[in-house]
Order: sequence, then C-alpha cells, then structure tokens
Amino acid sequence: MLVSGVEILQKAHKEGYGVGAFNFVNFEMLNAIFQAAIQKNSPLIVQASEGAIKYMGIDMAVGLVKILSERYPFIPVALHLDHGTSYESCVKAIRAGFTSVMIDASHHPFEENLKETKRVVEVAHTCGIGVEAELGRLMGIEDNISVSEKDAVLVNPKEAEVFVKETGVDYLAPAIGTSHGAFKFKGEPQLDFKRLVEVKKLTNIPLVLHGASAIPDSVREAFLSSGGDLKGSKGVPFAFLQEAIKGGINKINTDTDLRIAYMAEVRRIGNENNTEFDLRKFFSPAATAMTKVIAERMDILGSSNKI
Ligand code: G3H
Ligand code: 13P
Ligand code: ZN
Repeated sequence: MLVSGVEILQKAHKEGYGVGAFNFVNFEMLNAIFQAAIQKNSPLIVQASEGAIKYMGIDMAVGLVKILSERYPFIPVALHLDHGTSYESCVKAIRAGFTSVMIDASHHPFEENLKETKRVVEVAHTCGIGVEAELGRLMGIEDNISVSEKDAVLVNPKEAEVFVKETGVDYLAPAIGTSHGAFKFKGEPQLDFKRLVEVKKLTNIPLVLHGASAIPDSVREAFLSSGGDLKGSKGVPFAFLQEAIKGGINKINTDTDLRIAYMAEVRRIGNENNTEFDLRKFFSPAATAMTKVIAERMDILGSSNKI
C-alpha cells in the first residue's frame, strides 16, 4: 500500500530502527526491491532522483510504484523524491503522486536553505506529504582534518535545531562524513557519531544517512570477478550503519550497492555466454542478486518483520 514517508519513518524513529531507502531507475530495480521487502516482511521506501525521473518519465516512475504497491498491498511503501533541487521539482513530484520529497538546498547558505525548505514544507504538508532536507556537505573526512575544517563541512547541531523548528521539516539529513558512490573514504572509514547524537538530541525527528552503501566484500568480489574494476572502493561498514541507527538515523539511502550487485551479474552472464542475447537471461538473475543484497541489508538495518 502506498503510504506517506512520515508514517514509515515516524514508526522507525519511535522504535529505533532503520529503513533502507532504495533508489530505482526502472521496473527491474523496483521489482527486485519489492521482492526483498516481501521476503523480509519489511516496510519500504523507494526513491527516484531527478536523473531517474528524467530517464523513466515521472508518470512511469509513479505508475510502476502504484502497480507494484497494488500487487503487494501488504507492503507499506513510500515513494520519495531523492535530492529535489528546487521548489518546482518538489511540487511536480507531489502532483504526480510521490508521497515524500527531499528539497536539497544544502549547497546554499543556511538562511537560503531554510527559506527554500520552509516553502516546500508549506505546500507538502497541505497535501499530507513528508519533507526531507539536508544540512552540511556530503564528503568523506580524513584522519588529519582539523576541527575547523570539519565544522565547515559537516552539520552544525545548533543550526539543525533552529532549522527543524523554523521549517517544520519532517526528516533531516545531517552530513556526518559519508559521500555518494563507491569511493567514500581514502583512509579508514570514519563518521562523526558524536555530532549525529547531538543532532538527534536537539531535533528529535527521524534522521537520514545519505551515501550509505556498504560495498560488502561479496558485492565487490562479484564485480571484480566479472572483470570489473573497483580499485580503491570503500563503503560504510555494516557496524557503522548500526552505530548510526543507534545514534538516531532512520532512513538509510542506498543506491550504489544495488547497481554494483546487479551489473556484476549482468557482466558475469555476458562473459560466460557470449552467444546469449535474450535480455531475460541477464536481467532475471541480476535482479535476484540485487534482491539478496537488499534482503540482507534489511536485517542489518532492523526493518525486517516491522510491518
Ligand atoms: O544520490 C544519488 C543517487 O545515487 C542517485 O543518483 O542522480 O545518478 O540517479 P543519480
Ligand atoms: P550511495 O551512493 O552510497 O548508495 O548513496 C545513495 C544516496 O545517498 C541517494 O540519495
Ligand atoms: Zn543522497
């Protein structure tokens, strides 16, 4: 059943577990995500970036989610706009049927981010739609980073408190040292958990971890053994994801792991069967590989059996 993001995340916030927010760009990915939720009896957040919307068409993105949510009505699912870049983009998504939106004005000065987020919250709340915003910049932190450098890029907890009070935003993504993609950390992985705990204490709303792919060894190995190259790749270790959930994270944005798991299988099948050209012979096992990664993640994050 299609539900609001607030419904899924408020429950996770109250009960202290994490829900993966999985990106999709087509039916294959979306169906693989749904199959994991069915296996694990887990609530679901599926999200489409503006790039994914451009690729599918907004009607297709919403249509696919509606069809699968009607096919599997026992799965509560929220459809979220990932990294909406403007008020207009959020309104378009709400009009099309999204049940949650992110306004990402985090690259603007604080006051401007606050103003833009407030504008989106006003329209979204009249439609019963949840809103996510972001504070700080998504980037990995190095061992030798100074306190002032850290303060310049990561979330400021006091600002987070003011931001949440003034905007009425439903969930907040505080930058604590993650980044998007497969290359998150140059040295040992590190996140600013202390800062996270402070933000949770001062805001008391569901928090979001962007750039949360883990790149588990099994996923990396599958890609490497298919002839792919992921030299230097590093994700957020499972133990860090769990520590982050303890610190107040409830929405865990995950895209890169899904892409790597899927493409590793497509590559392997292509390498092993160079006369094969039936798409289904590639996509079906690749979707199964993706479902496996997602189902395992649901256990790690604690959303399994939370329906
Ligand atoms: O946050 C980024 C997501 O992984 C979506 O990426 O813009 O390539 O669709 P994308
Ligand atoms: P990853 O690149 O770590 O999967 O992060 C995805 C994300 O944050 C989407 O908003
Ligand atoms: Zn993100």
